[in-house]
Amino acid sequence: MTNISSTLQETRRFKPDPSFAQQANLGPQLYQALKEEAAQDYEAYWARLARKELVWRKDFQTTLEWEAPFAKWFQEGELNMAEQCLDRHLNTATKHKAAIIWEGEPGEQRTLTYQQLHAKVAQCANALLEMGVKAGDVVTVYLPMIPELAIAVLACARIGAPHSVIFGGFAPNAIRDRVEDADSKFIITADGGWRRGSVIALKDNVDEALATGCPNVQNVLVVKRTNNAVKWTDERDIWWHDTVDSASTKHQAQAFNAEHPLFILYTSGTTGKPKGVVHATAGYALWTKLTTRWVFDLKPEDTYWCTADVGWITGHSYIVYGPLQNGATIMMYEGAPNYPEPDRFWDIVERHQVTVFYTAPTAIRAFMKWGDDHVLKHDLSSLRLLGTVGEPINPEAWIWYHELIGKERCPIVDTWWQTETGGIMISPLPGVTTTVPGSATQPLPGIDAHIVSGEGEDVGPNQGGYLVIKKPWPSMLRNIYGNPERFKNGYYGRFENFYFAGDGARRDQDGNFWIMGRIDDVINVSGHRLGTMEIESALVSHPAVCEAAVVPRPDDLKGQAIVAFVTLEVEADDLESLKAELSDHVVQEIGALARPAEIRFTDSLPKTRSGKIMRRLLSDIASGREAGDTTTLEDASVLNKLRDED
Ligand code: PRX
Repeated sequence: MTNISSTLQETRRFKPDPSFAQQANLGPQLYQALKEEAAQDYEAYWARLARKELVWRKDFQTTLEWEAPFAKWFQEGELNMAEQCLDRHLNTATKHKAAIIWEGEPGEQRTLTYQQLHAKVAQCANALLEMGVKAGDVVTVYLPMIPELAIAVLACARIGAPHSVIFGGFAPNAIRDRVEDADSKFIITADGGWRRGSVIALKDNVDEALATGCPNVQNVLVVKRTNNAVKWTDERDIWWHDTVDSASTKHQAQAFNAEHPLFILYTSGTTGKPKGVVHATAGYALWTKLTTRWVFDLKPEDTYWCTADVGWITGHSYIVYGPLQNGATIMMYEGAPNYPEPDRFWDIVERHQVTVFYTAPTAIRAFMKWGDDHVLKHDLSSLRLLGTVGEPINPEAWIWYHELIGKERCPIVDTWWQTETGGIMISPLPGVTTTVPGSATQPLPGIDAHIVSGEGEDVGPNQGGYLVIKKPWPSMLRNIYGNPERFKNGYYGRFENFYFAGDGARRDQDGNFWIMGRIDDVINVSGHRLGTMEIESALVSHPAVCEAAVVPRPDDLKGQAIVAFVTLEVEADDLESLKAELSDHVVQEIGALARPAEIRFTDSLPKTRSGKIMRRLLSDIASGREAGDTTTLEDASVLNKLRDED
């Protein structure tokens, strides 16, 4: 495989501190026992854990029904996800403990105990029922990082209405596509949210999305957050404070089938249309609960902070569902990491005595750039464990995190997983694993991860290959919403019986996994997946553009940056202003995350004889690398011309 190679050789090793290992939720002995149990009888292992960890209203008989790629876990069982997160804690000491400590970007604070959160979720559930939401109806949630976001998703879970959360940074067109794809009739949003001192007008974006499509939307429930003026459609729009706040705090949660869809979350794939990844209830509940406890070592006294947005899978699994099932105290922050100053995160850690901190490599690289002083002026001694997710972390960033934030004391868990996997798959266990900067280390007990060749054979140590999961696991995606063919082809197309994650990787002589990045047409910008096709479609929708090819280029801060090669329909006089216009157009169509770092105009794009754009060559050019294999190129002069234009 020519496109999967890595020269990274990291020799530094960090053994778990014996004092950490001693108190860890998962120590070496239990880890060994779990691994052996899973190897001995895979289904019995999962069945035992499911019965132990979840509150079942009705027990299951069949642990797994597997007809690749369709899995059903614990299928006769019945349960309620909100009950796992809330009700189960109400007759324990956790009842009066803080579930969410929230800080708004302007600085206001709110704390909700488990009991209070339960009451709010019940109110929201009652209000949704009153609006006519029924079990199975998809509810779109487009909110800033405020407690109502957690309340809304838990309320949906409580009434069996799958939620579809859309990240607040997405533009009206992206909202429209997702609402239409899911045929969602209800939207929960806010007037706005705060970001770097400005209001992001969320309700306006929803209005715009609904003005151009989504004819089936019946109601929009609106939280008042920023007090900016909003347009109002009387028969459609409802204020949260008019309905939810006055609803009853009593709600009897109904039990749903283990396989009942809990949520849809849209992510980028290789074709233009975003795909709605569907997760089921019980398996997802089980794995997010266990992984939170194992990987983050959560204890009752911890204050845990995952800095992701609930609009991404990380926020679903490790802000809301995993930590709440474990009765943890969650820190939640609305705004930007550098507002009002680049020390905002460390200020929050110090003031709230955060103990476990989970963020993305792109954020770590930004902190490095902003300078150590912002870190050093804060007391970070409350921290005891650090995590990263979203993209490979460069060893230098890992070491900075270890030294500056962790003071060489806190274990670092580099967690590899995906929207589709539901929960963490490959990660160090803080009391067990010797960590290596840049490696996500080893699969968790029960996760059957391998590196295989194109023929599906396991490859030897240090050989690049495809990262696959051979056995189904409880929190795996169940489908692509409304598109089982895409599910099958996308994940079980390359290897019939193995889940293919889309990542290239290698395993070193110690069995540690090194993720080398996506091998499909997906760009990872700041830990967020963007499909090249999506961005290309956005560019081509501009009248000046004839054809576009979008490729990644390595970027110190974002991991990867977007470079667009564009051919034009017409001659343009002012190419610079056209570049700016196209760049804004992409932001308008998809959102700010998709803004190209560079747009290059060209006469033609390199294509194979069958007419396929050779993005790999463009990526080489964009990155300043020597172009790889060009034997299938139809017209070699195109490449020389592109180079000359460089
Ligand atoms: O390429 C891998 C990268 O992010 C992809 C999944 O993206 P998404 O579904 O948006 O989920 C991100 C958060 C779970 C993967 O296919 N990725 C994620 N975590 C890591 C990673 N790459 C290397 N190391 C990681 N720890």
